[in-house]
Amino acid sequence: MSRTRRARTHPLAARQRAVRQRAVRHRAVGRPAVRHALLGVLSIAGAAACQAPMSIFTGAGDGGRRVSTLTWFLIVAAAVVYVGVMALFVAGMARNRERDPASVDLSERGTGFIVWGGGVMPAVVLTVVFIAGLAAMGRFPAAVSEQAPRFTITGHQWWWQVDYDDPALPGSFTTANELHVPVGTTVRIRLISADVIHSFWVPGLQGKIDLIPGDTNEIRIHAEKAGTYRGQCAEFCGMQHANMAFTVVADPPAQYAAWIAGQQQPAREPTDSITASGRQLVTGGPCAMCHTLRGTNARGQVAPDLTHVGSRLTLAAGTLPNNAGTMEAWIANAQLMKPGVRMPTLSQFNGRELRAVATYLESLK
Ligand code: CUA
Repeated sequence: MSRTRRARTHPLAARQRAVRQRAVRHRAVGRPAVRHALLGVLSIAGAAACQAPMSIFTGAGDGGRRVSTLTWFLIVAAAVVYVGVMALFVAGMARNRERDPASVDLSERGTGFIVWGGGVMPAVVLTVVFIAGLAAMGRFPAAVSEQAPRFTITGHQWWWQVDYDDPALPGSFTTANELHVPVGTTVRIRLISADVIHSFWVPGLQGKIDLIPGDTNEIRIHAEKAGTYRGQCAEFCGMQHANMAFTVVADPPAQYAAWIAGQQQPAREPTDSITASGRQLVTGGPCAMCHTLRGTNARGQVAPDLTHVGSRLTLAAGTLPNNAGTMEAWIANAQLMKPGVRMPTLSQFNGRELRAVATYLESLK
């Protein structure tokens, strides 16, 4: 087979030819500009309609709906301004096509349009947008009772510490990267930072708010529907900023009460020889220096509390789904999965030990 012949029959070459032919047909029959504009509008509409895990358009609570209304308002306002400017631009070009550039009137009378169109109009539009934004921001759920549950979230590079320290709870506890809230109840969250500025953002439930070192902020969220809402750190905070996600789980009241009662318990006792050896390795080894497992002698304070780590949806702040396989991989080589993370790579466990540690941690529901 000659070189050219091989190139002609190569599957990629055939595909490229098909694409090129389609492009030619496209140019011949359609108006690509119109089609692209239509595609743009459709993709915005699609993004609005789809149940994406983290969409600004699917507000599920008072705060989230306000954000999505404001977003739509901004999109429509920007589209109206864009179409208006483009229409004037095209009209101006059409009108002055034959005109001699030297005859353009640059006196004060001739620049009135620039003052209005370039100064006054933008000032009006930007003021309206600013006021609309302020109004949306100012309308927090106003009537939040003093009895409303109140928790504390601390931002760390790159995970979220969640303290259920509401005085109304019979006992406080700490968890990580997952916040459970009762459906239909406004919850107050105090936000602090342990290191740099982070930003707490669950687009389905509320706008963004920063976690600032040395300062305390408060946000109120209200989930109307049961389900999980993905959140993400929205302020660049270092190497693994992108892998600093969290989940808000809105539970029906009975389920929420059961979850609280479960989390208040100390870590489960091992039920077999594998989990027993796993606990031995966790509490007697390097894990205990950074992590706490309530009810054991692991009392480290610098890393996520692992007392009920098996009950969580994700590992490493939304980086991995939580199961025995990802747990093993994470322990064996955290630096590969989340480079720069404070968790060291623990290469001292052999295969059997690694399996035991992961099995034990996954049993901690
Ligand atoms: Cu924390 Cu970005």
